[in-house]
Amino acid sequence: MKDLQTIQGETHQDLKHDSAIKQVMGRAEYTDDIAEPAGTLHAYLGVSNVAHALINRMDLSRVRAAQGVITVLTAADIPGVNDVSPSGRNDEPVFPTEKIEFHGQPMFAVIAETRDAARRAAELADVDYTILPHALDPISARNAGMPLVTDPLKLERGDVGKGFETAKNRIKGQIVIGGQDHMYLEGHIAFAIPGEDDDVIVHCSTQHPSEAQHMVAHVLGVPSNAVVVNVRRMGGGFGGKESQMNLFAAVAAIGAKKLNRPVKIRPDRDQDMTATGKRHDFVVDYDVGFDTEGRIEAVEGQFAARCGYSSDLSGPVTDRALFHADNAYFYPNVRLNSRPQKTNTVSNTAFRGFGGPQGVVAAERMIEEIAFALNKDPLDIRKANFYGDENDGRNVTPYHQTVEDNVIGRIVEELEESAEYRSRRADIIKENAKGGVIRRGIALTPVKFGISFTATWYNQAGALIHIYSDGSIHLNHGGTEMGQGLNTKVAQVVAEAFQVDFDRIKITKTTTEKVPNTSATAASSGSDLNGMAALDAAEQLKARLVTFATESRGVSPDTVRFMPNHVQIGDELVPFAHFIKEAYMARVHLSAAGFYKTPKIHWDRASGKGRPFYYYAYGASCSEVSIDTLTGEYRVERTDILHDVGRSLNPILDKGQVEGAFIQGMGWLTTEELWWDDAGRLRTHAPSTYKIPLASDRPREFNVKLADWSENREMTIKRSKAVGEPPFMLGISVLEALSMAVASVADYRHCPRLETPATPERILMAVERLKAQG
Ligand code: MTE
Ligand code: HPA
Ligand code: MOS
Repeated sequence: MKDLQTIQGETHQDLKHDSAIKQVMGRAEYTDDIAEPAGTLHAYLGVSNVAHALINRMDLSRVRAAQGVITVLTAADIPGVNDVSPSGRNDEPVFPTEKIEFHGQPMFAVIAETRDAARRAAELADVDYTILPHALDPISARNAGMPLVTDPLKLERGDVGKGFETAKNRIKGQIVIGGQDHMYLEGHIAFAIPGEDDDVIVHCSTQHPSEAQHMVAHVLGVPSNAVVVNVRRMGGGFGGKESQMNLFAAVAAIGAKKLNRPVKIRPDRDQDMTATGKRHDFVVDYDVGFDTEGRIEAVEGQFAARCGYSSDLSGPVTDRALFHADNAYFYPNVRLNSRPQKTNTVSNTAFRGFGGPQGVVAAERMIEEIAFALNKDPLDIRKANFYGDENDGRNVTPYHQTVEDNVIGRIVEELEESAEYRSRRADIIKENAKGGVIRRGIALTPVKFGISFTATWYNQAGALIHIYSDGSIHLNHGGTEMGQGLNTKVAQVVAEAFQVDFDRIKITKTTTEKVPNTSATAASSGSDLNGMAALDAAEQLKARLVTFATESRGVSPDTVRFMPNHVQIGDELVPFAHFIKEAYMARVHLSAAGFYKTPKIHWDRASGKGRPFYYYAYGASCSEVSIDTLTGEYRVERTDILHDVGRSLNPILDKGQVEGAFIQGMGWLTTEELWWDDAGRLRTHAPSTYKIPLASDRPREFNVKLADWSENREMTIKRSKAVGEPPFMLGISVLEALSMAVASVADYRHCPRLETPATPERILMAVERLKAQG
């Protein structure tokens, strides 16, 4: 009996993404694929064409008169509260009434018979403004006296003043770190279907259905129990759908309830890029003191971020930048301050890494500065500063969490070996010394990333499992599928718990009707949280089934075992489906709700102390690049990665996450440039001008490995580690390698101080600058 030996789809096994075939065949259903009921209408946003202004008068008569238009929604049509701010600061109106705060801000929505009609009509508004002065970036906004969007954070440990006093060397500098557009394949979309009384169902591409639900209820002025939000899957989220869907869900729902007809809203790519938030760009001022060996003694950092006009998630994003300003390094004396700066730009938001990558880039810049100053290999500086353990006391972070699971030393050693870093670096230096037009660079950079939402209450999840009387299993959990493979992993956990084949489990859409009060699928915690909640539900059901088996056969519980697709009861072996049928006939309750909350974590923001993270994920990458010093063009010749996912739930999916995250991180730091003109208009608002990495930009040689010896020392789901965000920061090795290649034109005497994204244009300018410096 083959199926008695093992089940198909256990954890720790490669298993393809459950939607892979459907996606390739075009059969995977996204929000826009849902069959539209008769009478469905389409909405489109009308937006501002100034960055900062008072609205004197908004004449929408031409919009209303346009062909196919049914109605126009403005702030006056909002029955409840005109606010969709996720931060609770009430600073994000659906439609502003008095003031425009960024170029492209939504002001009203047209609802028409067709999307095309709505889109054309949205252009016809006649708005009379009083123009106000605007500031676009965090420095000019600070100079103009603009406020912060939320309270800043300070982290402090040790005695910074004394640290600088005793340090032999000291370097101060500034780095500008660019933002990033999410560029998900599927843009924002919401589709609202009105029901009786206050009811409305909203299908929405969102990472955070519960928040969309609460926002819709809030703007409609109805309780949350009137609103259902559903999402089967997203065509990518990357953080861009953690809060930014609120506006679309709200507009669709307001329209649907006002007209009592289904309303769908889907911005085109340009509007998606201009009207929704992105990764925060930062200006970081750093000051680092170090000894003659390159050991860091003191660090001071100011992290100013372009937050845009409202708070959105900028508080926790700028907090996480500070939490990662140490990367994998111990700072004996440290003071870090965030500056969540208000600007007259779109409100920036979550993006893979959630501020962490910006912190890590700043840390790596300091390492580079030290290496150039001391004329050493940056890898030696890195190693000299890695966190230690309880033996050397170099294991406390700037937020006073003790690092207990440090594996960065081993990861880096192994990668250094397998990538032949030292010999290749020596070759490159020799080759560059010949003075050719093409210069090469190589860098090996580490990553340490904290896992948990820093908002502690978010670290909870629920799941719901039904077993039907035919033995088929219906699985639902609070997480959302955005391509990362969460549903596959959670189903593997459940398949293994019941010892049934993966195919027996139906993965269903995420809906606020089944699991309430869920957190965003974010902070890489999807499988950690929902995997555990699902396991809890499965264990409850198994306990009931064991009781039933014992009672029905008069055997002791320890003789009952879940075997592959069977249940063993004493000497009897019953096929799973038969056993379930029996249990149903005996009136066993075959549905269970599971719950999980992350243990051990706590965080006191006021004092800057606590244990915000349950554990850390680690990784390292080594990249070699070549640059053309006459044009600034470059390519990545080879990248080697060793990444730690603990005991992987599904190695092939995790490898896919590592590869994708690396490429996305590389794109952020190299070609993806956001550029606003003086009027505050985003000019890189479409793939024609905004350059994400292409297949041809991947490293010519790409070796990706998971650290198969790693196991989470905390009791996470099957001892795995989160994988979604940490490998994003592996892309930093490309930036550092570019820096080395540039530095070669002046014999590595100066730190090139590249700003990011390091576009070919910036590389060329840096080469020219360094040549002039000599
Ligand atoms: N992978 C794909 N294919 N698509 C995505 O949108 N989002 C990333 C990451 N990997 C994303 C992705 C982000 S920002 C996060 S926080 C995690 O997936 C969320 O999913 P997880 O917690 O289940 O890993
Ligand atoms: N990460 C991602 N998303 C979040 C977080 C976080 O730490 N906090 C709130 N939303
Ligand atoms: Mo990911 S930025 O936490 O959605």
